[in-house]
Amino acid sequence: MIRRYVVGLTGASGAAYGLALIRELVERPVEVHVIRSRAGRRVMARELGLAGPVMDHLAADESFKPHPQARLIEHPADDIGAPPASGSFRHQGMVVVPCSMRTLAAISSGLADNLVTRAADVCLKEKRPLILVPRETPLGLIHLNNMVRAAQAGAVILPPSPAFYHGPQTIQDLVRFIVARILDQLGLEHQLVEEWSGDGGL
Ligand SMILES: Cc1cc2nc3c(=O)[nH]c(=O)nc-3n(C[C@H](O)[C@H](O)[C@H](O)COP(=O)(O)O)c2cc1C
Repeated sequence: MIRRYVVGLTGASGAAYGLALIRELVERPVEVHVIRSRAGRRVMARELGLAGPVMDHLAADESFKPHPQARLIEHPADDIGAPPASGSFRHQGMVVVPCSMRTLAAISSGLADNLVTRAADVCLKEKRPLILVPRETPLGLIHLNNMVRAAQAGAVILPPSPAFYHGPQTIQDLVRFIVARILDQLGLEHQLVEEWSGDGGL
């Protein structure tokens, strides 16, 4: 059976992380279910100039080579009857990237009020991987408590905090570092960032 992943993009800054993750996934023989919240669409438009379907945006880049067996399916965030809303829809994991503090709060309190938060809630109840990439700074106590609650319920909290020891030169290098950590969590091999082999004892 084809492997499936769910990607939620919400209204926090960092749409580039979500887009880069989707691109990485569809370069593999997998099915990707994308859900953008209303605010997520707005931030994507502002940060990436992306107004239409995600696939159209990716296809505009000549270096983009989707796998022939890959499928990208976009679901409206208010379609709470779409497949990812049900536990019977089997998939290999969901990533909410970027994850707004509103969506984090909803997920951590079981408030399944749209398709992003419902699909995340389903992951937690079905014990499927759920990776949240929350973005805000500074973090208030409510945000921190919500992260603890989500982690206690089984989510992985993966803040978009790039490291600098690999010598990033561009923004894309920083984005790739975070996408690499997400792919690690999904158990997917990649060559985005070289494996750390020590610093020679400097
Ligand atoms: C340009 C822009 C940037 C934003 N950045 C953030 C952010 O980094 N983190 C955050 O939690 N909310 C951010 N927000 C606010 C959220 O979009 C807002 O709380 C929204 O209700 C989130 O809805 P959602 O969780 O359904 O996507 C931003 C809003 C805009 C317009």
